[in-house]
Amino acid sequence: MEKRKLYMETYGCQMNFSDSQIVGSIMTDHEFELTENIAEADLIFINTCSIREHAEKRIRARLNEFKRYKKIKPELKIGLIGCMAERLKEQLLEQEQIVDIIAGPDAYRDLPHLLDIAVTGQKAVNVLLSIDETYADINPINSKGISAFISIMRGCENFCSYCVVPYTRGKERSRNPITIEKEARSLFDQGIREVTLLGQNVNSYNNDNGTGFAELLEHIALIDPQLRVRFATSHPKDISDHLLETIAKYNNICKSIHLPVQSGSNRMLKLMNRKYTREWYMDRIEAIRRIIPGCAISTDIITGFCSETEEDHQQTLELMKWAGYDYAFMFKYSERPNTLAAKKYPDDISEEVKSRRLEEIIKVQQELSYQSNLQDIGKTFEVLIENTSKKSCLELSGRNSQNKIIVFPSTKNKPGDYVDVLINSCTSATLRGKIKN
Ligand code: SAH
Ligand code: SF4
Ligand code: F3S
Repeated sequence: MEKRKLYMETYGCQMNFSDSQIVGSIMTDHEFELTENIAEADLIFINTCSIREHAEKRIRARLNEFKRYKKIKPELKIGLIGCMAERLKEQLLEQEQIVDIIAGPDAYRDLPHLLDIAVTGQKAVNVLLSIDETYADINPINSKGISAFISIMRGCENFCSYCVVPYTRGKERSRNPITIEKEARSLFDQGIREVTLLGQNVNSYNNDNGTGFAELLEHIALIDPQLRVRFATSHPKDISDHLLETIAKYNNICKSIHLPVQSGSNRMLKLMNRKYTREWYMDRIEAIRRIIPGCAISTDIITGFCSETEEDHQQTLELMKWAGYDYAFMFKYSERPNTLAAKKYPDDISEEVKSRRLEEIIKVQQELSYQSNLQDIGKTFEVLIENTSKKSCLELSGRNSQNKIIVFPSTKNKPGDYVDVLINSCTSATLRGKIKN
């Protein structure tokens, strides 16, 4: 019998992309095959994000587009899964008539059963959050290419006042380290050369067995020197010297740390409930510079949070320049219903001011990224080749340990190879160079 076809679309963070691979695996174990052609799908899953209002709006617009497929094929079922499903629950069924299945991030094992209900014409919902679900025994469907994600922990209990994640992802829990190591080893054996360990606060990983994040990183690094290890996202509160020393010790643990600061103002950090001060954060940046020389540092920034003054904003700009970030993700504050900030603090910075401050932040970051790249000219980096360059098939591209994209001419090498590349030019986004013999 021909298998039914599942088409999936994923929005949001890397964890969501990793979750979609778990969902793919659950469904292919239940007589589905994946398709990239939406027109032939019997089932559509849209894995959603709630982090900002804009993310939800995009998803609603996309649902609207799905209507025409359902018109042509009335038996087509549509499942909305992930963070937006968890946040809005049954409400979504009233708002979006086209949706048949709603499943939150901890309910994916139940998807085949939810589909059985939906096939009878009923709506099916499971938004239960779990205290121990880590999908540890599920082998995600294979990643294409040479990199793969491995989720090592789920959930978040930090309750930053602006953030929806603790409500959509539930309690923090860490996956059993033995299953993580096994997965990484098997990926390496299949030809994967880079794994990214994922968690909302990946460095808060702490299994009941006592394996902390530093130990876990070490175990993965020891699988093979040819396997690169990355991780995201780190919370500043848990970036200990011990962890930094472990990163420094292994060549294959990548020298790149994403350390979201959100704001450079202590007053904002307090209102945001970030649990650290500007001074604590600066001390951690200094520790990174001291223990891992040459480590890239990137960040996330929210601008225009409740009551943010020009002075607060200037402190953010100053901190950015002081830290000299290599890269940053920068956002305007978006109020999320039912969060602490939505309940307690008015969203009182006008859209114009938010936009203007964001532009200033982006401008500073572009200059910092360019300066950081300029400093790499004349240096040689070990590059793991990922693809042929977007612009020319005679060029290859890959990244160095610092996570910077490097483009260089080559006709001999292929994805998965390591080569040493001497950098000779740059833009704010890319380094260019040539292979050193
Ligand atoms: N757990 C990570 C971040 C996960 S969300 C950490 O705490 O570092 C990714 C980024 O989205 C956050 O770092 C923040 O910069 C941004 N973000 C979260 N909620 C937001 C909101 N309500 N409005 C705008 N940006 C937001
Ligand atoms: Fe959200 Fe804060 Fe948790 Fe990050 S640490 S996911 S910003 S609540
Ligand atoms: Fe979005 Fe959920 Fe990730 S809200 S950023 S998909 S954890």
